Amino acid sequence: MASMIFSECSTARLLPLRCHRSCPALSFSRRVSLPLTSSRLFLPSLTFQPRASSTSVSATMATESSAKVIDGKAVAKQIREEIGVEIARMKEAIGIVPGLAVILVGDRKDSATYVRNKKKACDAVGINSFEVHLPEDTTEQEVLNSISRFNEDPSVHGILVQLPLPSHMNEEKILNAVGIEKDVDGFHPLNIGRLAMRGREPLFVPCTPKGCIELLRRYGIQIKGKKAVVIGRSNIVGMPAALLLQREDATVTIVHSRTNNPEDIIKEADIIISAVGQANMVRGSWIKPGAAIIDVGINPVEDPASPRGYRLVGDVCYDEVVKVASAVTPVPGGVGPMTIAMLLSNTLSSAKRMHNFN
Ligand code: GUN
Repeated sequence: MASMIFSECSTARLLPLRCHRSCPALSFSRRVSLPLTSSRLFLPSLTFQPRASSTSVSATMATESSAKVIDGKAVAKQIREEIGVEIARMKEAIGIVPGLAVILVGDRKDSATYVRNKKKACDAVGINSFEVHLPEDTTEQEVLNSISRFNEDPSVHGILVQLPLPSHMNEEKILNAVGIEKDVDGFHPLNIGRLAMRGREPLFVPCTPKGCIELLRRYGIQIKGKKAVVIGRSNIVGMPAALLLQREDATVTIVHSRTNNPEDIIKEADIIISAVGQANMVRGSWIKPGAAIIDVGINPVEDPASPRGYRLVGDVCYDEVVKVASAVTPVPGGVGPMTIAMLLSNTLSSAKRMHNFN
């Protein structure tokens, strides 16, 4: 059995599908009961105690799963409920309803799915959503015009330009055009600068890294003083995740495509956030026993048994890692649902900030 799982992790074949954190969730059968408290965003929940590190567990010897499965779907649902309550309270008190505008350019299926899911989530919590869908061959100026309209619109509190943009567009120029006070993605360089600097506060924390930290907090996994490794250095996830972990007083190392001996560095980590987009890349033997693992990757691999011909797996070889780690996020059902929940959270905070509502 173990060898079958090992070989599956080592032979999984990447499909040329692009499906970044935006594919519809599949069901996931192995879950633990919900260990959550009703906590305000960013308040730690202490109900979940990770298993103490055990030096006797090894990736190759363990025969049964031992890690807690971090149920991002359940956490995201709870957060959406908390946000819904806050939105109702604000509407009742000052008559303001938060608004989120999304600009989608082109016909990528994964981006369209992400935007559809976002709209559904907005509707469910009571956020007004506005959408502009432009064709693939639209000009940069047309995108800038839409951003400008939303920047001026007082009923819009958050603006998101769905990435990636078509290759003929200058992503930097377009993202810089989003007013920093409405940049709910938190991608604006000034915002990232504030995130990086001690004693400064960003207006928004980028959604996926914020979701990763929120999962650790709500499962009571201590970050302060821990060794954390972030695998991947993208502007959207890896780099801001590393900055956030550092703000939380972890000692952070970033592992990337040019890192020598990445396995040796990863093996030292108490906390791992992986965001590289390589199916099953991180093996059980790379993990320190008792580590907590947040898998951001959503990678399609061939699966003739699935009606769609593929299924989604993470960057981490789940079946190996679950025997060594103390806690791990599944794919799907881990980080994915948290990204949209954090987008709703950022939109709500933006509306509160603009209207001085606490
Ligand atoms: N494309 C994939 N992930 C993201 C995200 O978090 N924000 C935006 N704007 N585009 C994305």
